[in-house]
Amino acid sequence: MSTSAHQIEGAVDQRGPSVWDAFTALPGNVKDGTTAAVACDHVRRYREDVALVRDLGVGAYRFSVSWPRVLPDGAGRVNARGLDFYDRLVDELCAAGVRPVPTLFHWDTPLALEKDGGWLARATAERFAAYAAVVAARIGDRVPTWITLNEPAEHTLLGHALGQHAPGKRLLFDALPVAHHLLLGHGLAVAALRAAGARDIGVANSHGPTWPASDAPQDREAADLYDVLLNRLFSDPLLTGRYPELITELLCADVPDLAGDLAVIAAPLDWYGVNFYQPTKVGAPRPGATEFSGLTLPPELPFSPRPITGYPVTDFGWPVVPDALTELLLTLRERYGDALPPLIITENGCSYDGLDDQARIAYLDGHVRALHRALESGVDVRGYFVWSLLDNFEWAEGYGQRFGLVHVDATLKRTPKASYHWLRTQLTSSPSGV
Ligand code: BGC
Repeated sequence: MSTSAHQIEGAVDQRGPSVWDAFTALPGNVKDGTTAAVACDHVRRYREDVALVRDLGVGAYRFSVSWPRVLPDGAGRVNARGLDFYDRLVDELCAAGVRPVPTLFHWDTPLALEKDGGWLARATAERFAAYAAVVAARIGDRVPTWITLNEPAEHTLLGHALGQHAPGKRLLFDALPVAHHLLLGHGLAVAALRAAGARDIGVANSHGPTWPASDAPQDREAADLYDVLLNRLFSDPLLTGRYPELITELLCADVPDLAGDLAVIAAPLDWYGVNFYQPTKVGAPRPGATEFSGLTLPPELPFSPRPITGYPVTDFGWPVVPDALTELLLTLRERYGDALPPLIITENGCSYDGLDDQARIAYLDGHVRALHRALESGVDVRGYFVWSLLDNFEWAEGYGQRFGLVHVDATLKRTPKASYHWLRTQLTSSPSGV
């Protein structure tokens, strides 16, 4: 089961501001005009939430630590109250018999660092490692498994290239230094975690098969570029120590010691995390803006996503294609061979409204079966985290898209949905490390 800090915690008065606080304060950035100031009020209600996780019967809970809750200015002064919260959360999980799996960065960069250039600045990578050390020193004795970053691809593309997420920058390909600094931050954080005794470290990257719109060379070329940006920009350097050729020149021209950085970035991982939601069909650019997954993509992009038809869709309009998960896992194994560590699905889920969420049950059931097909073909997958425990603040969508297995209403009352009861029954009949 998985969640992230900014999407559920609330209690903004007990932490420093992040880029998401600044972004959501500007009208027009979030569809329903909401913010995560209260969200699910998890900081105050974490005991109830841990009890929901425990009663579900899952073995592990993936949550994220909010960097500005620990270090309100991003570096230096530690917020004792913030660290105390994660200390209590970890204790509560351990007492419930649930393995705590913290993610150190799920997009909520401290605003103070953004003012110094944020992830466009190399110094942010070094500060991230220092923050990792602070967290590990406090909870490392009870945390067996760590995740450094969540979906650096989305943070780079949506946050810095397209401006649809915080910090709202529209730099297009000039956003690529963000990718390099996130990767460097990951590598430096791995070293800091290892120095603190951590032995089980991974990263959560988003992946999905990219299907060319046709066999025409222009469509194939566009799909290859999209595939590099979504699927290879992060995994290639992490797993092979090299950037994909298509992007090397654009990305690396200004990096002073590329070989040195890549050696840090490619530090061996204990496992590799895959977040999967949907495949994407991509073709050559078309005149005018393209609507995709609730986003408006600018016409200058050298590719354009196309609708995938013939499958059911979630409330978000995302096609439900479980076979694409099998395809993805087989592709990763083929692409990286022996360089691919054991995999963990670090996110998979869907948005549907309503308490009787039969469509979510069908989605989860279909994807777990797809995962089994990959296992049967010999792909080493060690775990599966469902996204998400609670209906929460779904970034630029506000509270309009509901990914939770537990419904949260306006009074913050939690009500397990049909999918929660279904998963609980599945886990009791065949326990696994979900
Ligand atoms: C993110 C989550 C998000 C989910 C659904 C992933 O990209 O890691 O924070 O809620 O997808 O959009």
